[in-house]
Amino acid sequence: MTYWDSLYIYYISGTGNARLSSQWIAEEAHKKGLKTVVQQIDRLENIIMPLPDEKPLIGFAYPTHGFNAAPIMIRFMTGFPRGLGKEIFLVNTRAGMKLYKIFMLGLTGLALVLPAFILWLKGYRCIGFRPVDLPSNWIPLHPGIRTKVIESIIARCEPIVRKFANKILCGKKVYRGLYSLPVDLLISPISAGYYLGGRFFLSKTFVASSKCNNCGICIKECPTSSIIYVRDRPYWKLTCESCMRCLNNCPQKAIEAAHGMATGMMFLISAVNARVIIWLIDSLGIQPEAWWWKLLSQFIMIGIMIAIASVIYLIMHYAMGFKPLRLLVRFTSLTAIPGWRRYKYLKDKRPKTQDKR
Ligand SMILES: Cc1cc2nc3c(=O)[nH]c(=O)nc-3n(C[C@H](O)[C@H](O)[C@H](O)COP(=O)(O)O)c2cc1C
Repeated sequence: MTYWDSLYIYYISGTGNARLSSQWIAEEAHKKGLKTVVQQIDRLENIIMPLPDEKPLIGFAYPTHGFNAAPIMIRFMTGFPRGLGKEIFLVNTRAGMKLYKIFMLGLTGLALVLPAFILWLKGYRCIGFRPVDLPSNWIPLHPGIRTKVIESIIARCEPIVRKFANKILCGKKVYRGLYSLPVDLLISPISAGYYLGGRFFLSKTFVASSKCNNCGICIKECPTSSIIYVRDRPYWKLTCESCMRCLNNCPQKAIEAAHGMATGMMFLISAVNARVIIWLIDSLGIQPEAWWWKLLSQFIMIGIMIAIASVIYLIMHYAMGFKPLRLLVRFTSLTAIPGWRRYKYLKDKRPKTQDKR
């Protein structure tokens, strides 16, 4: 027995994992005869909302970024209208790995609790949430997982997600994500740090190498419209959420995470931060132990980090017209190492049917 007459799933997905999870859930709902609408929320455009006379179950699926929900999903939830239904569920995809025969799980942090709280404030009740450990797409950190391993990780996750879908569609409550709550709360300061600062820094680490042929696919497909042409070369704005869609899907493998440049930026940022903080303490006579200063200094340091990263990135973008510099940036990037795979397994496995069912 189902309690709803329709299922709406809103998803954002860099490399297809959240889309795949949404598809599995939609298939289970379809089998139960529910009208099912699966909606990608790229650029927060053209989004279909449930009709006023419907009794929908509403789901949200999104990747975990920096131990939190993808920022675009948080924005979408914050602006989500009230009163479109009563019950919602959440699915966060995480970085699944496999070491020998052992499946390694990702870490959720605030990626379930925060969205559940935001939607609760809007009058929705979360009847289920579930982390799903699909293959990690964080390619600047590690080379893409091999196809065989990807397949075995996906084969492990599929029954898990379908079981979850069947339970919630039958009206049962499933709070599987609560198992790791103590660890999630422990790492919540890192979630906050990533959300307020880290993600802006990461957005300034992407560059297009000389292999780029200006096909424009990265610009067209970016879910936050964060890539633009500056001097005829792709340029990443601060709004980039590092979802990895561009880096993983570039047909020329021309998009790199510039590790060398990022390391240089970090040295400069730490040096400037230390000097500014000491100077402020000395010149304003601040008590470094004061709680308000401890908090305020974090924001000052984040602001300095974002400003320095943005300025250096802009300078480098122009300076990379100079070939030796371009080569230096490229050859100090781990992603440029031959054999550093991308994760685009699911790109070619897009369903033939369009999202709306
Ligand atoms: C910038 C970035 C941050 C990430 N942070 C986390 C994290 O905190 N915890 C985790 O388990 N996975 C993390 N991941 C991995 C992704 O959440 C994971 O691969 C997810 O399944 C990708 O889903 P998608 O293909 O729908 O975008 C991160 C990936 C990226 C690119």
